Amino acid sequence: MAIRRSPSQAQIRKQQMLAAVNYPLDWLEERSGLIGGVRYFLFRKVPADTNWMQTLGSATLTAFISQAVTGVILAMYYKPSPHDAYASIQDITDHLTMGWLVRGMHKWGASVFIILLFLHMGRVFLFGAYKYPRELNWIVGALLLVLGLTEGFTGYLLPWDQTAYWASVVGINLNGTGPFVGPWLAQFLRAGQEINGNTLSLFYSLHMLLIPGAIIGLITLHLYLVVRLGVASPPWSKEAAGRDRVEEQPQLQTGLTRPVPHGAPGGRD
Ligand code: HEM
Repeated sequence: MAIRRSPSQAQIRKQQMLAAVNYPLDWLEERSGLIGGVRYFLFRKVPADTNWMQTLGSATLTAFISQAVTGVILAMYYKPSPHDAYASIQDITDHLTMGWLVRGMHKWGASVFIILLFLHMGRVFLFGAYKYPRELNWIVGALLLVLGLTEGFTGYLLPWDQTAYWASVVGINLNGTGPFVGPWLAQFLRAGQEINGNTLSLFYSLHMLLIPGAIIGLITLHLYLVVRLGVASPPWSKEAAGRDRVEEQPQLQTGLTRPVPHGAPGGRD
């Protein structure tokens, strides 16, 4: 007769710890199904030949999250008025603890975000991943590109120094030369006849509320479509669309783990 050993103290502690970790997760899963959703997202199947270029979308997402976090911190100290804006930026850089780092990350991170955006778009284009059935995701991506660029444009005015002011004058005047809607667009962007405090308020609100909100919504839709449609294989892949899939016949052997029907090649007679 087999002797049943009682579990050791260490085993009991391990079980208790596992139960303590699992309890809140089970609680959440039972009420929302969120844990299953996250597990599906993280462990879903992707083509075997995905490569580093397909991490550019996630890199863009990481850059956006960094911009959002540093932007929220900056918004706590920035003052969006012509009188205070420049001084508040100097204050953040020179006097706030780690302010120089947060501002530097936000300022340089904006360029990183835009560069990654273009690299990701280039990858999608070169892989032909904009074709059926991913056209809608390409359109969502194109909107993200426009919003990303507008985010950069509206943020540039906020320091309210000479460079910011004159760069915005040029940018707004360029918009003004567009056909039909150009003059209206320039008037809207200036928030009046000239660039002044109203323009700064408008750009600040677009930069920290409207555009980031729209970007977050579109990224959610973008990622939903990525998961729903699956990731496209590289064009040189055997799995690429339009090519016949070459199924390699596995070397079957008789046995418990790889049973082969009687009479089949490699099977028992
Ligand atoms: C904020 C900007 C963006 C973020 C955070 C983002 C994020 C992602 C991620 C994480 C993926 C899946 C992994 C990958 O393929 O890299 C993806 C795929 C995709 N993205 Fe983006 N993306 C952005 C902008 C764009 C732009 C500008 C376009 C094109 C105009 C675009 C078009 C696509 C398409 C078509 C796919 C599917 C590719 C495939 O199935 O292989 N995205 N995106």
